[in-house]
Amino acid sequence: MGELFTKLRRIPGMLLRGVNICYEKARGLDFSGIIQPEMEGHCAYEASRGMAAYIMLRAYLCSRVSNNDAIIDIGCGKGRMICFFAKFAFKKTDGLEYSPELAGIAERNLRRLGINGAEVIRGDASEFEDIDGYNYFYMFNPFGEAIMKQFVLHLKESISRTPRKIRVIYRNPVLHPYLLYEGFKVEEDLRRTLKANKIYNFLWRNMPTIIAYTH
Ligand SMILES: C[S@@+](CC[C@H](N)C(=O)[O-])C[C@H]1O[C@@H](n2cnc3c(N)ncnc32)[C@H](O)[C@@H]1O
Repeated sequence: MGELFTKLRRIPGMLLRGVNICYEKARGLDFSGIIQPEMEGHCAYEASRGMAAYIMLRAYLCSRVSNNDAIIDIGCGKGRMICFFAKFAFKKTDGLEYSPELAGIAERNLRRLGINGAEVIRGDASEFEDIDGYNYFYMFNPFGEAIMKQFVLHLKESISRTPRKIRVIYRNPVLHPYLLYEGFKVEEDLRRTLKANKIYNFLWRNMPTIIAYTH
């Protein structure tokens, strides 16, 4: 009985995913799929998805973002989140992606959606230092600790060079303890936004973990 209930609970998510894939196909977009990494230490491509995640992010960003802010998706894959962030007041919504193939697909998706001005930078996060112009960083568990260490090092150097408050929004934050160790403070656990909503808890029991940090 419990197993049947668990299976039934997955149906709304599966239906939504199906609708989403049809919508993408109809518009000539491509955000779907899971693509294994070409190099060790890099995580597979999988787009941020799930209505619960978008609702949490919207609630968090709407009350904070102004046109003085700029965001970059570190490991942007096919650009799904660049398109999402472009709906907010950010003056800049860019992405960094090490896979040239994924970066090319991201650019095509942006063009098809008429999102101009967003840049897909090709490069590895461990070597990326051109970050002074951003104060928001989004990551969906893009890589392991070795690359994160290098990235955090560049982030801290950037803060010393150009002092500002930065925010890191980290989905599936497997390196949470490391960020705390490096002096990042939890600003908000975005799951709290949905805590009171019984319908979302029912439909998305495995709610994604998204944590916003400040430094
Ligand atoms: C889980 S996917 C997330 C995609 C996108 N951020 C989203 O939320 O829809 C992680 C992405 O990070 C990219 N990535 C992994 N290691 C990277 C690195 N060192 N530098 C830049 N991108 C990287 C992968 O190619 C993949 O596209």
